Amino acid sequence: MSQVESIVVIGAGTMGSGIAYAAAANGISATVVDVASAALDKARGYHEKTAARSVEKGRLLEADAKSLLGRIAYEGDLAEACAGSGFVIEAASERADLKKSLFATMVASAAGDAVLATNTSSISITEIATAAGDAADRVIGMHFFNPVPVMKLVEVIKGLATSEGTVERTISLAKAMGKTPIPANDRAGFVSNRVLMPLINEAFFAWMEGVAKAEDIDEIMKLGCNFPMGPLRLADFIGLDVCHDIMMVLHRELGDPKFFPCPLLRQLVTAGRLGDKTGHGVYEHTR
Ligand code: 3HC
Repeated sequence: MSQVESIVVIGAGTMGSGIAYAAAANGISATVVDVASAALDKARGYHEKTAARSVEKGRLLEADAKSLLGRIAYEGDLAEACAGSGFVIEAASERADLKKSLFATMVASAAGDAVLATNTSSISITEIATAAGDAADRVIGMHFFNPVPVMKLVEVIKGLATSEGTVERTISLAKAMGKTPIPANDRAGFVSNRVLMPLINEAFFAWMEGVAKAEDIDEIMKLGCNFPMGPLRLADFIGLDVCHDIMMVLHRELGDPKFFPCPLLRQLVTAGRLGDKTGHGVYEHTR
């Protein structure tokens, strides 16, 4: 199996820009595609800042940082960016209809044997693959974690039609990106979000019921369970809307009332308090 030398990443949000950086940091060229030029500018800023921080910390020579940044390209046209590509990772918003329309373009534009991966956090891989027609065997879940340059895990999810060859190529790329790939089956939330999101949701219930203050809930989980961030702080970091939407998918797909989002989480999302990205969620954040 030949080593992947370049990838296309669709979506210049937090996850897409993190995936592109992790690839470039490991010698793999990455083209980030987004229709929004402001998102591409923001991704470029993040890449420059992250590389500069590594230079400051003495982990990267200035020349190597320059080469790293030189391996990342920014593109506004999806079909053009995908043309002939052998490995595409979709990291667009969590909407099944959007992902399906992107996959139709990926199939049409990428190489005939390209791996077509999605970084979805909870949408069924089998469902996304319905947009790929005969190429469903090349569709796979490649679930990264935020912040991607730091977090070691890639959850690798096979859809019903995903071939073993696609799995092997995905595992190989994840390893080349310095990650640890671990397989999970195509059930709502896979493993990570099936376990993490109910825990976060329960922290909202504890807060809503006045079991403890938000800060204390987080501190208890940090000091008592060795969490790097408490669950409410982590919810702000992930995005309260993202947590809410994943709970809704778990609730719908698994049919158990225990997955219904806490009313307080729903209320904060309704109020537009989405966490770090809006400057206010459970906590206020300086941006
Ligand atoms: N990009 C790149 N590097 C980053 C970064 C970012 N966004 N944020 C932090 N880092 C690096 C820093 O440069 C620093 O590196 P250094 O120590 O070598 O200088 C290192 O990470 C530690 O950062 P800080 O010292 O600033 O802060 P912390 O020690 O508090 O670590 C953290 C920050 C890594 C985010 C840590 O708090 C953590 O691990 N939090 C939990 C994150 C987590 O659980 N993520 C999973 C979310 S779920 C998910 O993504 C799935 C989705 O489907 C919802």
